[in-house]
Amino acid sequence: MTTQALPSTIYTMDDNQVVRIRQAQEEDLRGMEWDGEYAHFRHLYRQHFQNSLSGSTLIWVVENEVGKIVGQVFLMLLSSQSELADGIHRAYLFSFRLKPVYRNQGLGGFMLEFLENYLVGRGFDTLRINVARENSRARHMYERHGYQVVGTEEGRWRYRDQNNQWQAVHEPAWRLMKRIG
Ligand SMILES: CC(C)(COP(=O)(O)OP(=O)(O)OC[C@H]1O[C@@H](n2cnc3c(N)ncnc32)[C@H](O)[C@@H]1OP(=O)(O)O)[C@@H](O)C(=O)NCCC(=O)NCCS
Repeated sequence: MTTQALPSTIYTMDDNQVVRIRQAQEEDLRGMEWDGEYAHFRHLYRQHFQNSLSGSTLIWVVENEVGKIVGQVFLMLLSSQSELADGIHRAYLFSFRLKPVYRNQGLGGFMLEFLENYLVGRGFDTLRINVARENSRARHMYERHGYQVVGTEEGRWRYRDQNNQWQAVHEPAWRLMKRIG
């Protein structure tokens, strides 16, 4: 896939703090662990970052006024699972999270629209998201933005943690989809 600099944007929080949504750099990987809370995803984040160098996965981070990483979103354009992302029409959004104090102020919805516009500009017409079945708040937000449940997902996967131990995840999910084009 072609690699190109990703667009960035800013958003003003309720307290007037301005955050910047921009392409992740290698130096951001540690910040994306949120002071250890997500250290277990260290290898996973690095692997996705490697994929971002070829453009198959794109990563945006949210940086606050003092340069701390307070959010992130990953967008897979091309996957070996073509029902998720086929590199042309369909993309897959995942690992979307904001630190709690930055939630419920419209930032997540703003980022979703920003990414949808970016994808439409690149010719994509469908965005897929998996949301954990217990995460009804996130599901509600996506539905408000026009996403529809199109199926269920077993949600079994594995990752190697920061201590090189394999961890198994079982997180049943809803498959959501939106026609964005
Ligand atoms: C999911 C997530 C990224 C959404 O981001 P967010 O910034 O909280 O989303 P928004 O603020 O745009 O929308 C959330 C709610 O805030 C409300 N809201 C929007 N703008 C607002 C504002 N200016 N002031 C107060 N509330 C507002 C919305 O009405 C929305 O409520 P609704 O879903 O009941 O309609 C974020 O909540 C998060 O990180 N959650 C934990 C991780 C997670 O669940 N990720 C999703 C995995 S699929």
